[in-house]
Amino acid sequence: MSRSKIALIGAGQIGGTLAHLIGLKELGDVVLCDIADGIPQGKGLDIAESSPVDGFDAAFAGVSTEKDNVASYAPIQGADVCIVTAGVPRKPGMSRDDLLGINLSVMKGVGEGIGKYAPDAFVICITNPLDAMVWALQQFSGLPKPKVVGMAGVLDSARFRYFLAEEFKVSVKDVSAFVLGGHGDTMVPLTRYSTVGGIPLPDLVKMGWTTQEKLDGIVQRTRDGGAEIVGLLKTGSAFYAPAASAVQMAEAYLKDQKRVLPCAAWVEDAYGLDGMYVGVPTVIGAGGIEKVVEISLNKDEQAMMDKSTEAVKGLVAACKAIDGSLA
Ligand code: APR
Repeated sequence: MSRSKIALIGAGQIGGTLAHLIGLKELGDVVLCDIADGIPQGKGLDIAESSPVDGFDAAFAGVSTEKDNVASYAPIQGADVCIVTAGVPRKPGMSRDDLLGINLSVMKGVGEGIGKYAPDAFVICITNPLDAMVWALQQFSGLPKPKVVGMAGVLDSARFRYFLAEEFKVSVKDVSAFVLGGHGDTMVPLTRYSTVGGIPLPDLVKMGWTTQEKLDGIVQRTRDGGAEIVGLLKTGSAFYAPAASAVQMAEAYLKDQKRVLPCAAWVEDAYGLDGMYVGVPTVIGAGGIEKVVEISLNKDEQAMMDKSTEAVKGLVAACKAIDGSLA
């Protein structure tokens, strides 16, 4: 059986980290693509030269693509997975939404390239503002909606889990957490469905293991998790945790693991929505998004979810206003 082929569109901070992790996990051969000539080639060669040390077998090709030149995507032909990070990241003081106009124009060429050369791929979008960009990528590529998803929930939940593990001084492995909604300031960390050793967070407050005030602080820090990293790095945004999160999703697809992972998926007939991309729990297997899991929300949680979906709808409307070809 031949190796899987994984195309990374964007070979910047996240793209390079993705390539390295994919090599270390031997998930398949990698094609790195970027408009910055030399970067995908250099990163690919550098990682390939680390393979004898770490003992993995994978090929790394670096390819220069041109914005809006669909033919330049020919090297991704037949890719099983495409992970898209092409675009620009935030700088301090910027929100993810500030990236909308520039990154939307990037999604057009990338989506058309994927639609032409990798129509059977599972596509994971990381470019921000996430929920609007994954929608645009699906529209421009024309791929089936269950095969086009956005990476946000795994990352937001990982941040939540890490902060909780720190607070409770327990292993991150024993903390599970749920974050729903859009990947922005309105995201919805769900304390009721988040647990330490199987014990829901509200019960842990009752048990006196933490206080509601501390929990509220952790929820807010989760919402601001991306901005905290941007504030520290100053020249760009987070890349290790986003890359690890997307690789988990790619692995779930390639190995048909049926993992239950939160991600920005197309939601229809659930959560009161009639068709939009937003963060929800899903099952990822060989069919891509095989199921959207609808959990019951109380009044407060539903109100937070509604606020978040409204924010995403606003971004999608802004995309349509910029590019008239988007239905
Ligand atoms: N086609 C291909 N690559 C492109 C294009 C394009 N049209 N436009 C930009 N790029 C490349 C850039 O040359 C750069 O190498 O995308 C890469 C982005 O890398 P970084 O600037 O290092 O950004 P990164 O931290 O990887 O984040 C990428 O993910 O988390 C989001 O908000 C973040 O939207 C940003 C994206």
